[in-house]
Amino acid sequence: MFKNFNKWCLGAFAAMLTLGTFSVNAQEPEAEASINGGDLFKSKCATCHHPFKDGTGPKLYDVRTAWSEGGAGAEAIYQWVNNWQTAAASDPYAAGVAQKKATAMTKFPDLTKPQIVAILDWVDSQEEKVAGAAGGAAGGAEGVEGEEEGGFSWIWIILGVLFVIVILAVSGVRRQLKAASGEAGSDTLSYGEEFKAWAWGNLRYVLIGSVVIFITLIVVLFQGLYSIGVVEGYQPSQPIDFPHSKHAGMSGIDCKYCHNSVTESRSAGLPTVNVCMNCHKQVAGNDDEQMEKIAKIYAAAGWDADAQQYTGKTTPIVWNKVHVLPDHVYFNHSQHVEVGGVDCKQCHGDMTKQQSTAMVQPVVELNKIEGNVQLTRPTLTMGWCLECHAEKEISTGSIDNAGGDYYQEIHRRLLYGDKKLYSDYLEDGKVTVMELGGWECAKCHY
Ligand code: HEC
Ligand code: HEC
Ligand code: HEC
Ligand code: HEC
Ligand code: HEC
Ligand code: HEC
Repeated sequence: MFKNFNKWCLGAFAAMLTLGTFSVNAQEPEAEASINGGDLFKSKCATCHHPFKDGTGPKLYDVRTAWSEGGAGAEAIYQWVNNWQTAAASDPYAAGVAQKKATAMTKFPDLTKPQIVAILDWVDSQEEKVAGAAGGAAGGAEGVEGEEEGGFSWIWIILGVLFVIVILAVSGVRRQLKAASGEAGSDTLSYGEEFKAWAWGNLRYVLIGSVVIFITLIVVLFQGLYSIGVVEGYQPSQPIDFPHSKHAGMSGIDCKYCHNSVTESRSAGLPTVNVCMNCHKQVAGNDDEQMEKIAKIYAAAGWDADAQQYTGKTTPIVWNKVHVLPDHVYFNHSQHVEVGGVDCKQCHGDMTKQQSTAMVQPVVELNKIEGNVQLTRPTLTMGWCLECHAEKEISTGSIDNAGGDYYQEIHRRLLYGDKKLYSDYLEDGKVTVMELGGWECAKCHY
């Protein structure tokens, strides 16, 4: 009987797992079949249209109401999207719309009516942002994705509940079978008592089970503790979607052009809006998306692009800080970049390829970059600093290399101060940051 019960449970669990896999898989074709108006809009229409703003094409929010109120035929608007010319030829309202803008709309003969309905439904479902910072389209898309993610975890919760119900049901049937076969006293046992009896009979399984659960809990706890204060992957939102790839990458601008104090001081510094205006007075953007972003620079600098003059009304761009060390830590860029000769890539990754705004690169990503010292501790933690100081050789630290007065002085002090220590340092043929005091608490802590 007990053996059968175990099999029952295993069978039920396996069934639930398969069911779970199927129900997850079953969702995919369904999602494919249903039309995503938002995606269609973004891939086909967003280059010219915005729900709430006139661009190359007019704003599209509630456009169907405007058409029906204007006396257009019921099908005219769908015909318009397929081929605006045939629509304009047959419908007087559509003919009026065709006069709206100098540019002509692209023809989309492949779009079906349900697809066009989905696009316009999606446009009408957008909410206008008063500040308009991120643009209506992006905001709406986030909402849709959020719902999908939520749906996925619900499946597992429902499956869990079903699993418990099945176990209870199975054990209920078993009790009745027992009662029917005339086993005395079994129906007087409660579920708890029965479980106890089962557990005593299967001590080995119970023991293995408990050990597994215990170890899992410990691992989860420690992972949680180790992630406290780790900021890898941190990428705050920025007032302007500034792509390093297009500036430091495509246009090949030197980092120091914008972060101009990086070789001289502790902080690298961020560029003022005047630095942006050196180029952006001329570069206004190639398409609507770029123009919208660059218009924010103009707003900050108080530049009237139409009149080509400054209005005098400026508002600073408030960039959010990405790399942040606690106040009790002293970090100096010039020491690393200028004296130590450490490349920006070593700590910030290859910014010439960074298409979105800056982020704290995880150490595994940094390790992939050619020429970087391989480190294991999470970026910006104390372990990360120390590990590099233990590994990194000071290139100008050998005797023959002059390395400027700074190193001369260190050599001199060691030579006359502690000859034994000096020869220890040079034993492995290299001098690391640690050997020069890079592990002293007071070097990094106030
Ligand atoms: C190449 C730019 C371009 C693209 C791409 C484009 N449109 Fe248009 N659209 C226009 C222009 C320009 C107009 C204004 C009519 C005119 O002057 O010809 C317009 C007008 C419209 C109108 C009528 C607006 C009104 O105010 O009555 C609708 C509806 C419309 N477009 C839907 C769409 C949909 C849906 C898509 C995507 C499948 C799309 N458009 C893609 C340029 C475009
Ligand atoms: C045209 C100007 C410009 C150039 C050139 C440029 N940057 Fe930047 N950088 C910015 C701006 C603006 C920000 C703030 C926006 C952001 O965080 O993405 C920034 C942010 C950063 C940050 C994050 C700052 C923080 O808050 O922690 C790093 C790191 C950085 N840049 C490194 C580099 C490196 C390395 C290069 C050269 C390969 C470079 N930048 C070239 C303008 C520039
Ligand atoms: C040894 C590692 C390291 C190197 C090399 C390095 N940085 Fe940084 N960078 C940091 C750390 C750590 C911070 C955070 C500083 C803080 O919060 O005090 C930072 C912050 C920044 C910031 C934000 C503004 C600021 O000064 O706090 C910018 C911009 C920046 N770095 C650019 C650069 C550029 C450009 C280079 C190359 C010329 C470079 N960094 C080289 C570690 C490094
Ligand atoms: C040395 C010239 C130069 C400087 C300085 C400069 N930019 Fe640009 N920027 C460009 C060019 C060129 C483009 C167009 C790239 C392209 O063709 O896609 C551009 C494009 C952009 C874009 C649109 C990118 C996109 O998503 O397509 C933004 C946003 C932008 N710059 C912001 C800034 C900000 C903010 C600053 C100041 C911190 C700045 N730029 C400084 C030359 C510059
Ligand atoms: C990629 C390797 C690397 C990383 C990561 C790194 N450093 Fe350094 N650090 C160096 C090198 C190389 C020097 C030596 C420069 C020199 O010759 O003085 C140095 C020197 C220093 C010094 C001066 C030491 C002395 O003896 O005067 C301080 C302070 C310092 N680093 C702080 C930090 C802090 C804080 C961090 C972490 C936020 C950090 N470093 C991360 C490579 C690194
Ligand atoms: C190479 C630079 C460096 C040296 C040397 C260094 N620290 Fe740190 N320390 C840091 C950094 C960076 C942080 C901040 C880490 C973070 O925010 O996750 C830190 C954080 C701390 C903290 C706060 C706890 C924490 O993890 O945030 C303590 C305590 C501390 N250090 C003690 C020491 C002591 C004691 C020594 C000497 C044995 C020492 N540190 C040497 C860079 C250093």
